[in-house]
Amino acid sequence: MLILGLESSCDETAAALCEDGAILSSIVRSQVDLHRQYGGVVPEIASRAHLEAVDVITREAFAKAGRDLEQLDGIAVTLGPGLVGALLVAVNFAKGLAFAKNLPLVGVNHVKAHALAPFMDAPGRAAPVPEFPLAALVVSGGHTNLYRMDDYLSFALLGRTRDDAAGEAFDKTAKLMNLGYPGGRVIEEMARRGEPDFYALPRPMLSEGLDFSFSGLKTAVLSLYREEKLAEAPPDDVRLCHLAASFQAAAVEVLTTKLTRACETVGAKGAVLAGGVAANGPLREAAGAAMKRLGLSFYAPPPAWCADNAAMIASLGERQLLAGEGLLTLEAEALPRWQAA
Ligand code: KG4
Ligand code: ZN
Repeated sequence: MLILGLESSCDETAAALCEDGAILSSIVRSQVDLHRQYGGVVPEIASRAHLEAVDVITREAFAKAGRDLEQLDGIAVTLGPGLVGALLVAVNFAKGLAFAKNLPLVGVNHVKAHALAPFMDAPGRAAPVPEFPLAALVVSGGHTNLYRMDDYLSFALLGRTRDDAAGEAFDKTAKLMNLGYPGGRVIEEMARRGEPDFYALPRPMLSEGLDFSFSGLKTAVLSLYREEKLAEAPPDDVRLCHLAASFQAAAVEVLTTKLTRACETVGAKGAVLAGGVAANGPLREAAGAAMKRLGLSFYAPPPAWCADNAAMIASLGERQLLAGEGLLTLEAEALPRWQAA
């Protein structure tokens, strides 16, 4: 079955082709350069840029896969969650294509799709086949969700952030330190030169439950930054590296502890770590080591599939189509606040 996946929920326009579980092409056009000067995603700019890119990258996805529109068996599109104006671009494009070519269309949940990224085949990559149930942590700029997965299509929400998402905490810390946007990767780079226990930062809600909270950590970083007068520090002041390392260590400890607790709570056979923040090296190492200690399998996507992409949308979309789940009519609307569970 040949499926086109389309994604435009935030600041990446993406198209991918998936055939019988294998990703044939995955094109991502990032808008980061357009939003950087504003320090975050500007919804109107995002929608316009998606509009300009969506047909171009769809053609690229077909060309790269060596397939054409006539061979397509179905279309999968991100229905939510995300920015409504941004989501609508791919949703309406997908509807038009599905109508014109008389193809089935499925609506995919973006956050769930992240959790399938470790299990996608690609030329030269045979994906692992997990044993269920799994505990899956999706950590990105917009989401921090913990799920129990009983198979690729069956998700139950175990916990979520009560305020900021983990990636948002990285981005806000980076913004405070004048490191630009998005900040996750820069924080990771700076943290390599710092000591993770130099500053004592809080680990909010560490000992209780499966929900998260990152706003207290963000506030603690801000207070420390002021107390230490880091705004006046030269860019090569090692205390900035210590702050990045101490922040990252706090975030990693909270995320790893909750993922471990989720595994124990549901009797998981393994754990998934996915979403943009899953590209973070120390987080992957800590979560992987925690799973090793428990004797559980650990699945994290290759870094290119951590960030937003349409391969994961096509992959989940193909499974949904085979199961007859989430089929859309032409009246379907985007679901900006769609919670997966
Ligand atoms: O999944 P994603 O591409 O978009 C959303 O759905 O939000 O995630 C983007 C988020 C940003 O907050 C970015 O700072 C974070 O992922 N990120 C990282 C790293 N690379 C990206 N956070 C920590 N360490 C990284 N290496
Ligand atoms: Zn995402």
